[in-house]
Amino acid sequence: MPVQTWVAPGRVNIIGEHTDYNDGFVLPIALPLVVACAATPRADGTVRVVSRQRQDETVLVPVAGLAAERARVPGWSRYPLGVVAEFVRRGHPIAGVDLALDGAVPIGAGLSSSAALSCSVAIALRDLFAPDVTDRELIDLARAAENDYVGAPTGLLDQSASILCTAGHALFLDVRRFAAAAATDAVAHEQIPFDLERFGLALLVIDTGQPHQLVDGGYAERRAQCEAAAVELGVPALRDVDAVAVVERITDAVLRRRARHVVTENVRVLEVAAKLRAGEDPRSIGPILTEGHASLRDDFEVSTAALDTAVVAANEAGAYGARMVGGGFGGSAIALVERAQTDAVVDAVRKRFARSGFAEPRTFVVAPAAGAHRAD
Ligand code: GLA
Repeated sequence: MPVQTWVAPGRVNIIGEHTDYNDGFVLPIALPLVVACAATPRADGTVRVVSRQRQDETVLVPVAGLAAERARVPGWSRYPLGVVAEFVRRGHPIAGVDLALDGAVPIGAGLSSSAALSCSVAIALRDLFAPDVTDRELIDLARAAENDYVGAPTGLLDQSASILCTAGHALFLDVRRFAAAAATDAVAHEQIPFDLERFGLALLVIDTGQPHQLVDGGYAERRAQCEAAAVELGVPALRDVDAVAVVERITDAVLRRRARHVVTENVRVLEVAAKLRAGEDPRSIGPILTEGHASLRDDFEVSTAALDTAVVAANEAGAYGARMVGGGFGGSAIALVERAQTDAVVDAVRKRFARSGFAEPRTFVVAPAAGAHRAD
């Protein structure tokens, strides 16, 4: 059988951070940066994984031994192996497979390289072994692999973005409705046109180079705090709090701040989605992005000095708005800029980073790209 290749993208979330695991709203776009997975079935009961980024390591694990070998395999290989294990666990037999990976999504940059990796393997395995698996199920499956096999307690944002996004659009996802649609292919999502070029705008990604890690404790702690806040308010999830005043009832000041972020962030997603849906000039979403950053910095406390510097420097240099993206504790920021001003903003951010003693950031302009698909 000829080798076939599948690709899945990373993402940036335009707005809606740490809302997914609170049953709320998100609005990501897919990046033009992908992980490619070349896959061929094997008949010998073995999974073999290689990666262009890890040329010194070839991972060979018996399909029947995936669970037992989990602790022994290299960390990066748990993403692909976890997806194989999850297919098998769900009753899709895999007699063996060769997986060759090549990732162009920067790792630890908050751009969802891990979901790009998991989703590239997931769509490859679906096409080869389980063509009836729906997109909805595939997203669940990739997430379960990350949650259970890798041990990263993520929500649904990254996998949904990688699978469902389409070129030229932001993906509006109502995570509660989406999760409730688990049994069918009915999905609570909407493709909203997001064509910045038409308005003379550009979306700049500023990668601080300070890696973030979802398996570290900070992300799980935020999740637990949100759950505790919901329990205190007597609601199933913070999504159910529709007035920020309600949050003031929470006695613990930290939990109160965490809840305030989630409640205000959900409002920001709905506002941004409404503006884009109405075809408004995207410049008008800029201040909402910057508010989102302040909320992540002050209430959710997941920003860093470098991310704050990127946001301030970009805004001072004329960006319409800027914010950190992803889980936080490092990674990247985005800035909405006048296309013709992109270089000037990049220059200002670089200079500010140098003055503040941070390593030079990596910057690039992105436009909404396609979700996961077969490449050949
Ligand atoms: C990470 C997780 C997502 C989401 C974001 C924060 O990217 O994987 O599920 O929670 O952080 O919005």
